[in-house]
Amino acid sequence: MPTVRDLRAKAGDEPITMLTAYDAPTAEIVDDAGVDVILVGDSVGNVVLGHETTVPVTVDGIAHHVGAVSRAVDDALVVADMPFLSFGVDETDSLENAGRMLKEEGAQAVKLESGSHTVDLTEKMVQLGIPVMAHLGLTPQHVNQYGGYPRQGTDQEAAERMLELAIEHEEAGAFSLVLEHVPSNLAARITEELDIPTVGIGAGPDCDGQVLVFDDAVGISEWTPSFSKQFGNVREEMEAAVDDYVSAVESETFPGDAHSYEERDLEDIY
Ligand code: KIV
Repeated sequence: MPTVRDLRAKAGDEPITMLTAYDAPTAEIVDDAGVDVILVGDSVGNVVLGHETTVPVTVDGIAHHVGAVSRAVDDALVVADMPFLSFGVDETDSLENAGRMLKEEGAQAVKLESGSHTVDLTEKMVQLGIPVMAHLGLTPQHVNQYGGYPRQGTDQEAAERMLELAIEHEEAGAFSLVLEHVPSNLAARITEELDIPTVGIGAGPDCDGQVLVFDDAVGISEWTPSFSKQFGNVREEMEAAVDDYVSAVESETFPGDAHSYEERDLEDIY
């Protein structure tokens, strides 16, 4: 089982791989492929649960998925994404919510969508033994403030502020930093400045690692952001399998002899 220290050691040698997963079979596939980090992202809200955004995801909801993923994983580091307002409002609640992901659900770390409000909280969590992955750039829990999902760090002032916040989170003890939807030259600069690994999504090639949403990467999602890439077309495979099933049942070719059995001892019932 890799630790947050292994991840730090890998950075600089080899790119870190990270994908989301929300259930046990997917987590098994991702883990067997040798992915370093599995993020149980709050993207579960819009990717799996049918919400428009990640805002409605609850602590109980994410806990359910973190448990399923942790039970299936042998090797990858499992990171639980803390949902909107489950951290940063009240310190005790924040610590208890994050602690629950480790104590009860088997995660090894949490991710916090970060800002100036998470620097002290990151330090406190780390002191208590909860490893924290920070997240700067586009933080989708702010969708209502942004009015969408715009690229971040696009002017000098915003870029400098992001660099400062990255350094503050490293100093607070975060073990890595996700950079989402930021210019690649800014991500490169932040990566160069930090000792902890950066993991990019829509942040160009110079981060220490890359992360994508599983459903986008394998081609289940109907829509994917411009910075993502479909490495397969699993949706087409699923559609074909479901069509075949419907045809087989409707044409009464399933179930056939191979998928049924007769019990001789029940002959008397006829
Ligand atoms: O929730 C999520 O899937 C994420 C990744 C996109 C980094 O936060």
